[in-house]
Amino acid sequence: MESMGGLRRTHNLNELTAANINEEVTLMGWVLRRRDHGGVIFVDLRDRNGITQVVFNPENNKEVHAKAHDLRSEWVLAVRGKVMHRPEGMTNTKLQTGEIEIMVEELRILNTSPTPPFPLDEETEVSENLRLKYRYLDLRRPAMAKNLILRHKASHAIRNYLDTNNFLEIETPMLTRSTPEGARDYLVPSRVNAGKFYALPQSPQLFKQLLMVSGMDRYYQIVKCFRDEDLRADRQPEFTQIDMELSFVEEEEIYQIAEGMIKNLFKTTLDKDIETPLRRMTHAEAMMRFGTDKPDTRFGLELIDLVDIVKDCGFKVFASVVKKGGLVKSINAKGCAHLSRKNIDDLTEYVAQFGAKGLAWVKMKAEGEWQSPIAKFFSDEERSRMTETLNAEEGDLLFFVADTPRVVHHALSELRLELARMLGLIKAGTFDLLWITDFPLLEYDETEKRYTAVHHPFTAPHADDLDLMESDPGKVRSRAYDMVLNGTEIGGGSIRIHQKSVQEKAFKALGISAEEADDKFNFLLQALEQGAPPHGGIAFGLDRLMMILAGRDSIRDVIAFPKTQKATCLLTEAPSSVARKQLTELYLRPDWKD
Ligand code: AMO
Ligand code: AMP
Repeated sequence: MESMGGLRRTHNLNELTAANINEEVTLMGWVLRRRDHGGVIFVDLRDRNGITQVVFNPENNKEVHAKAHDLRSEWVLAVRGKVMHRPEGMTNTKLQTGEIEIMVEELRILNTSPTPPFPLDEETEVSENLRLKYRYLDLRRPAMAKNLILRHKASHAIRNYLDTNNFLEIETPMLTRSTPEGARDYLVPSRVNAGKFYALPQSPQLFKQLLMVSGMDRYYQIVKCFRDEDLRADRQPEFTQIDMELSFVEEEEIYQIAEGMIKNLFKTTLDKDIETPLRRMTHAEAMMRFGTDKPDTRFGLELIDLVDIVKDCGFKVFASVVKKGGLVKSINAKGCAHLSRKNIDDLTEYVAQFGAKGLAWVKMKAEGEWQSPIAKFFSDEERSRMTETLNAEEGDLLFFVADTPRVVHHALSELRLELARMLGLIKAGTFDLLWITDFPLLEYDETEKRYTAVHHPFTAPHADDLDLMESDPGKVRSRAYDMVLNGTEIGGGSIRIHQKSVQEKAFKALGISAEEADDKFNFLLQALEQGAPPHGGIAFGLDRLMMILAGRDSIRDVIAFPKTQKATCLLTEAPSSVARKQLTELYLRPDWKD
């Protein structure tokens, strides 16, 4: 191994072109590959920016050429040499630096490396666990480096935009009290306060509201949030929010600022023009047409309500579900009558995961004839009304689910996505953005036997629905909104309650007693009394946004050091055991004494 010997890098590995011919340059980077061509050795040298070809020619410098024989993949080099044109016909148009190569005069081997556990090129498929264990190598791969560079650009664009719009970036505590966003808390035991715990923030929600009471007017933060919940491709236990809050505003101003930020983000990262203002859809409409509050509206396959037609039909499954107040809905898979029994059985199994007890189907044959195990249960009139309502034509395949509204919507919204994937209905590179508005304030939790907040307990109720807070809490609309991109919830926020009396009412509707409210949220209630301005805000999931901008399927691909589905870090092996002494200090053992 050698020192850098006073060499200073003059260019990165994506910089040199024909304009630099004959210049003497010094480059540093990793050996991507070495090729020996009849005595002349070629090395592709790589850094995070790109690749430059360096050449060791025995006729040029025997000593350096001999040294180059030993070079292996991922060794770290410094080379000094002259920029030369590549010979006729040897230009590599795929590389930014494809016109030139470096004739090396001086080679320094700064570090060696064993053969890496997987090839660091673009082509090789590598298991994600192996990539996560050697994440520092995985991030050397150009596609991964590109994601991190894109993420940096995005954060930079966001900061610029918000700064231009008079937002202050203010940090809020990581060691704090529980901030209810509907997930479990990560707890941190206190050493100096026996038996007490901090919670890591699920979001900076209450602090940003307090900053509005302080008169900070417009706040933002690109901030880590922590939620101990079941992980999926678009969820991590620690993730990053672009969090913001504004004073003296209503929905329209927040929509405008948030849309401007997203528009600017697409322009600076992908050079894409997003048309604003964005479309808006009420929560009720989204549920009715798509069965979900985050509809992917890049394709049709909408859900159609058949309750009115089938309420008295001879198919017991449907009729009895309607009697019990449930729903019967259908999707018309246009032109899909060719799907096989096996396809339909697979789809039935697929929707069963979401609670559907079955998946009834009809294949539309010539002249309106139904091919279906359930055709016999319907009258001619019922069949023709369904055919008309569903706009069913020869060659279509109709799917039906009957159950509680929750199950019908969950199963059919997932079936819709699965069909779109199967049928290739989603065009890559399209971005479909919309607002979902008028969320209900509360939803009834069957297991806890009480109402819970759909967004969070600090969201303002719709002024017209205040009277319903006590009489019919489930009917109260909120002033919450989500932004949805390609069927992913990328952001959510609300106008907040800024009056103590209304906040107390909201706690009551949530089954939080006055004592509990006083114990947990006294600081908030007090602050609301002391000149809280009307305020509201929104938080975007930066990881989810980046996943979509980078065209990836998992947020792990846009996070430098993510956790697995089991919330572990394969690189550092966190979480890990700790010494008994540490536990004792934190009063986490039964043997501690006061
Ligand atoms: P909410 O809980 O909707 O709102 O979160 C805001 C956005 O954060 C992203 N997100 C996640 N991303 C990755 N992994 C997770 N586990 C995860 N959980 C949430 C989503 C989501 O839209 N304080 C409020 C915001 C407000 O009212 O201003 C809040 O946290 O993209
Ligand atoms: P069965 O009478 O149980 O044999 O069901 C006849 C057809 O109806 C089958 O294709 C089932 O998949 C379907 N089916 C059963 N229960 C439901 C339901 N709750 N919703 C939709 N289809 C159902």
